[in-house]
This record gives sequence, C-alpha cells and structure tokens, in this order.
Amino acid sequence: MCLYSYLAHPHSMTSPLVRVADRMAHVSYPIRDIVLQARKIEARGTPMHWFNIGDPNRFDFAPPAWVTQAIHAALDDPQYSGYAPSEGDPQLRAAVAQSEGLSPERIFISNGLSEGLSFTLQALMDPGDDVLLPSPNYPLYASLSRVLGGVENLYQCDENWQPDVEDMRKKITKRTRAIVVISPNNPTGAVYPRKTLQAIVDLAGEHKIPVVADEIYDQLLLDPSASPGPVHKLAQDVPVIRGCGLSKNFFYPGARVGWLALHGPGLDGFAGALQRLCNARLSVNWEMQRGAIAAVQHAPDHLPAALAKLRKRRDLISRRLNEIEGIRTTVPQAAFYIFPQVTDGPWKTDAEFVYDLMEQTGIVGVPGSGFSSQLPGLFLRLVYLSKEDELAAAMDKLEGFMKKRLK
Ligand SMILES: Cc1ncc(COP(=O)(O)O)c(C=O)c1O
Repeated sequence: MCLYSYLAHPHSMTSPLVRVADRMAHVSYPIRDIVLQARKIEARGTPMHWFNIGDPNRFDFAPPAWVTQAIHAALDDPQYSGYAPSEGDPQLRAAVAQSEGLSPERIFISNGLSEGLSFTLQALMDPGDDVLLPSPNYPLYASLSRVLGGVENLYQCDENWQPDVEDMRKKITKRTRAIVVISPNNPTGAVYPRKTLQAIVDLAGEHKIPVVADEIYDQLLLDPSASPGPVHKLAQDVPVIRGCGLSKNFFYPGARVGWLALHGPGLDGFAGALQRLCNARLSVNWEMQRGAIAAVQHAPDHLPAALAKLRKRRDLISRRLNEIEGIRTTVPQAAFYIFPQVTDGPWKTDAEFVYDLMEQTGIVGVPGSGFSSQLPGLFLRLVYLSKEDELAAAMDKLEGFMKKRLK
C-alpha cells in the first residue's frame, strides 16, 4: 500500500478483509474471464484475434440509424431524463406487444435480456429447484441458478447440437421449474427445427411447466430454410416466457434494452413477481427505450446486408476449420458463433487448448467447458464477426499451430 493511501485510510492497514458471501463462488462468466490472460499476452506485443466476445460493434456492424436517431431525439427531450415506468415505457410495451400478438401488460422491459433472465430465474426458483438447460448453454443461466441455490440439470444435445428430447424427458424432476430453449443457440449457432420445438413444448405441457424461450438471435438466421418461427406459436396451452432485445438482432448490446413477453396461460403470478422485481430496481434507461420503439416499429432494413456479411464469414470459418487436421465443426445456421471440437492433440482439457492457442497465435476463444460441464470432448467457442481477411489470417495461424502440435 502506498503511503498516501495509508494516511488517507489508516484503518485499512488493520481492518479484517471484508467477507464475501459464499454464494459468490458460483458467479463466473468464462467469456470475459479469459480476457485477463489475453491482455497479458497482448502487452507482450502479440497481435490478438478477439474471437471471444459476441459484440458486433467491435467489428463492422452498427445499430440501425433510425434507432440511434430516436435516441438522439430522446436525449434532447427532458421528459426522458427521469426514471421510466419500472415495467417499461408504455409505448415500447405497446410496440412489442403488437409484434408479439399480446396485450401490453404481458411485456416487461429489462436492462438487456440478461436482467430479464435474472428476474425470470428469481421468480421461478427456490433453493433445491432446477431449470432444464441445454448442454452447452449461455453461462448466465447456470451461474444465476446456482446463486439462487438451484441444482444443475442439463439436457444433452446430439452431434449437430440438436436437443435430445428423450434425455430431456428423463431429466425432468419434481423440482424442475422450466425448460430453457435457446434457439438460435449460443454457443453452437444451432437452430432447432419445428418438430423438435413442438416436442419440447408438448413435454413442458405434460409436466405443467413453462418454456423459457431465449430467442435473442431470432432474426439472425443465415439459412432461410432454418426458420422454425417462435416457440410460442407452437404452444397453445403451454406458458412460454419469450426473451428478446436490441443486443443482437439490432446490433446494439450497449443499449441494454431487452424484454420478456409472456405467452400462454398460467403466468399471472409470474407477471406479478416480475412487476415487483422491476419496481425494486426502478427503471431501464428511458432514452434507450425510445430507440427500442424505433427498432421494433421500423422495417428491419438493416438485416439483409448484415446477414450477407455474416453468411460469408460463417462459410469461410466453417470451411477452414473443417480442413484443419485435429479440428472438426458443425456449420452454424444462425448468429455469429461456431463451436468446433478439438479431436486430436496433446491437451487434456479445452482450457489447456485455448490457453496454448492464445499464447501461440493470439487467437482468443472460450473453452467449451465454460458452457457446459458435460461435453463429449474438447470444444471451444469462436466468434466470427471479424472481416474475412482477419478470419483467414487467424485460420492460417490455427492451421500452423495444429500442425506443430500434432507432429
Ligand atoms: C443466448 C443469450 N441470451 C441472453 C443474452 C444476454 O443479452 P443482453 O445483451 O440483452 O443482456 C445473450 C448475450 O450474449 C445470449 O447470448
């Protein structure tokens, strides 16, 4: 400790360490954890390929102009400088409700879908409960449910990352409070076909539990044939809690605007719980919500060009990965993630592989184990938002690295 800070805070030399709650041991976020080590490598002068974070705005993607213009207008209007209504701007709720075919009281605006998911799990789970999660899944779910005292319960996916509905059936317990479906999926880029979604919805119906349908990537379909439509359309009598937002479909993660749409029966108590959770945290940034109205109401004219770029990048990275000895991948159908398997080499864990790769090539990926504790081998997640020349250069490096390691 420097002398100045000791003089300013003399107690800090003697006071005991502040005790942190035990449940904090459950909070981790592997997508960002890797960055600490990556920064050290970068500081040594290694050019890095940041393929770890799914933020389109670090690359050549931007939110639509009509969204940012609406935010500019709201910034100049003092009525939007205060707290917004806790459950969301009424016009935004009405706009989302219209696109969802619901009444506005069934829409709750959150600080990104992350907060919506946090509220959902808080409202559904008591200690000892579980929610069925896909293996692999977006890590926020597992982290949040453990913090709430929940029990891990993962359903398996096949070699194309499609859910195994029979496994799902076996895994439902008396304490299962919901089935989580992430389609399009992070980290695999898989899109679940209608038949699978229907089977999942039917299963939820049999067990009288809701489906949490995380559809935050639903506009980023790279193969038009892979378009099953939203889960709730398949569920007449089954409650579906659908999550969406600005972060991905509108390339605006920094806006931190997401929403939950409550479809189907039996969700009145849940809506009341959401309302109380929203009240307790007061508000979502109002100016950003005004931008979200424009996002929802405007035709999605920003998508064709963005999808064309993503398609080219997806094709390039999939082809190159499958040409490298010791690597094999499925081809993602949506979003901007790819989840290759390391099929050969000296590494015992995927973390060992990812750190070795990062040291040697500057390619930053996320170990597959960050998305599931039950994967059938070594995997990593790569984000393919970079331009083709960078993707190609990184694939050259990966190829050289694998050749060296497999010698
Ligand atoms: C599947 C999934 N759900 C939810 C989120 C959270 O999104 P938001 O930025 O709206 O909080 C993400 C973010 O990457 C995601 O991949």
